[in-house]
Amino acid sequence: MAASSMALKLACAVLMCMAAYASISQAAITCKQIVGILAPCETYLENVAPLADTCCSRVKFLNKLGNTTAADRQKVCKCVKSAIANSTDSYLGLAQGLPTKCGVSTPFPISRTVNCTSVQ
Ligand SMILES: *[C@@H]1O[C@H](CO)[C@@H](O)[C@H](O)[C@H]1NC(C)=O
Ligand SMILES: *[C@@H]1O[C@H](CO)[C@@H](O)[C@H](O)[C@H]1NC(C)=O
Ligand SMILES: *[C@@H]1O[C@H](CO)[C@@H](O)[C@H](O)[C@H]1NC(C)=O
Repeated sequence: MAASSMALKLACAVLMCMAAYASISQAAITCKQIVGILAPCETYLENVAPLADTCCSRVKFLNKLGNTTAADRQKVCKCVKSAIANSTDSYLGLAQGLPTKCGVSTPFPISRTVNCTSVQ
């Protein structure tokens, strides 16, 4: 009983998050919001925890959200590029493999040298 009401609360919290993120798509998404969406992936990318389902669902969500216009894609590209700019090679490698692990493909390569301005 206690456990199921906990699960219900959790589900509601997730739905509320989704609603908040959905409203982001009306306005321009910021890098800060992108980083927030991908927060559940951080421990995986730092190689201290296994890949969480939450991480993949956020990746898929962002993939849809940030894939409407070329400007969106460039913004997500720049944000990802700055996130990996000073990362370790291990972090970069895990980040590069993440879309495939989650079953999505990014419209730009995850690379420190990608030219985000040329992403269409
Ligand atoms: C990366 O490191 C350089 C040099 O330390 C610094 O100037 C730059 O702001 C850092 N970039 C990011 C995205 O943290
Ligand atoms: C973005 O949309 C295009 C075309 O609809 C699709 O082929 C691509 O897989 C999508 N990319 C992402 C990262 O969702
Ligand atoms: C990036 O791509 C844009 C558009 O294709 C181009 O104008 C620009 O010169 C490129 N920048 C670099 C550093 O290659």
